[in-house]
Amino acid sequence: MSDISSWRSRERIQMPVYTDPVALRAAEDRLRASPSLIFADEARRLRSELAAVSRGEAFLLQGGDCAESFDQFGAATVRDTFKVLLQMAMVLTYGAKVPVVKVGRMAGQFAKPRSAPTEIVDGVELPSYRGDIINGFPFDAESRMPDPDRMIAAYNQAAATLNMLRGLSKGGFADINRVHAWTLDFTAEDKAAAYRDIADALQDTLDFIRAAGLSPRKSEELATVDFYTSHEALLLEYEEALTRRDPVSGGLVAGSGHLIWIGDRTRQPDGAHVEFCRQVINPIGLKCGPSITPEDLKVLIETLNPENEAGRLTLIARFGAGKASEHLPRLIDTVEGMGAKVVWSCDPMHGNTIKSVTGYKTRPFDDVLAEVRDFFRIHRDHGTIPGGVHFEMTGQDVTECTGGLRALTDEDLSDRYHTACDPRLNASQSLELAFLVNKLMRDTETVGRSVASA
Ligand code: PEP
Ligand code: CO
Repeated sequence: MSDISSWRSRERIQMPVYTDPVALRAAEDRLRASPSLIFADEARRLRSELAAVSRGEAFLLQGGDCAESFDQFGAATVRDTFKVLLQMAMVLTYGAKVPVVKVGRMAGQFAKPRSAPTEIVDGVELPSYRGDIINGFPFDAESRMPDPDRMIAAYNQAAATLNMLRGLSKGGFADINRVHAWTLDFTAEDKAAAYRDIADALQDTLDFIRAAGLSPRKSEELATVDFYTSHEALLLEYEEALTRRDPVSGGLVAGSGHLIWIGDRTRQPDGAHVEFCRQVINPIGLKCGPSITPEDLKVLIETLNPENEAGRLTLIARFGAGKASEHLPRLIDTVEGMGAKVVWSCDPMHGNTIKSVTGYKTRPFDDVLAEVRDFFRIHRDHGTIPGGVHFEMTGQDVTECTGGLRALTDEDLSDRYHTACDPRLNASQSLELAFLVNKLMRDTETVGRSVASA
């Protein structure tokens, strides 16, 4: 029998200790009485689309903020991130002729695991910042105190974000006839031009179809896109309070987002986060960093996907440039040895974080690209399927990762460094990444094989 509270008897890691149990209970009760943000049918549809990804018939594109923030929330941030993801998806679909499953790190990505529970500045020690759903970024005792009411604020922001995403994806903005309108001004000219070429070619095809009197029968499919949300299921009080029973299957659904993932720091096989996630029917992501052992991976796969259903589990490899060759092959061998059905995705961000000479946390764009290349090469060598990419990006013109066609340097980082946590790719770098992945997909026969021959 499932018990969605059973995580509470496991070790409590990477979660805040709330000092006011009455306020905590009140916030949980309010969330429990609030509408679910996503619905069981949507989670099931994403699962079946991910099943197609696991067979090489589609590609997963997952991206968004490292941490969504209360301060930077607004229509422009949501719209521009959505635009960049649409552009990237277009580059991949058009170039590699594979459907792209679009998933935002949006509408719920508020809680952050930290490497240390406290932070010391000028001899003053305070709790670490853990994301806006838990405490505040300013370095003062009041801000850093975990506050359960922040869960309500996060829920409200997630609801408003999702409302906008649903409008953008179904209300005409994502209509393929508007492919030119998704461009952002500050994209590097070289990639902006390459994108325009694709958009022009696509427009030609659509014009031809219309001129020939062949109005596309499924025109609503060209006028809308399916867009899903995802976040790390870290703050389990929030996750539990938004879990609902699906009237159709009787199963439990995490109502906080379509796909939830388990972070690299909270994937202990007998830990609270695995215990929570194993019980919900949503598609689950599992971050796999250098410390994961084949033994742990085996237990995690058996625990999280006991029926071995395709689309249930996405393994998100995040090792760092040059390190995938050391770690990924043994994980692939484990998965193949078990006959486990998984989606393999590549997060080229979290293994590539360094401190710049100017003191900023950054990621060299070349390292990001190198890890993606390795990921594709290793899968090609093993005959397995590189199913997707997972990365941190924004539609804003930030200067957080160095490199790219516009060649950001360490000195440039201070110009527009706005992230609430890890450094993100800006719109221009994101599009460059999409063109690289497009090329790698065309070079790797395993992706899109079934689509091309269908
Ligand atoms: C993240 O995705 O923001 C994150 C913290 O990743 P990981 O768990 O892989 O370190
Ligand atoms: Co991050």
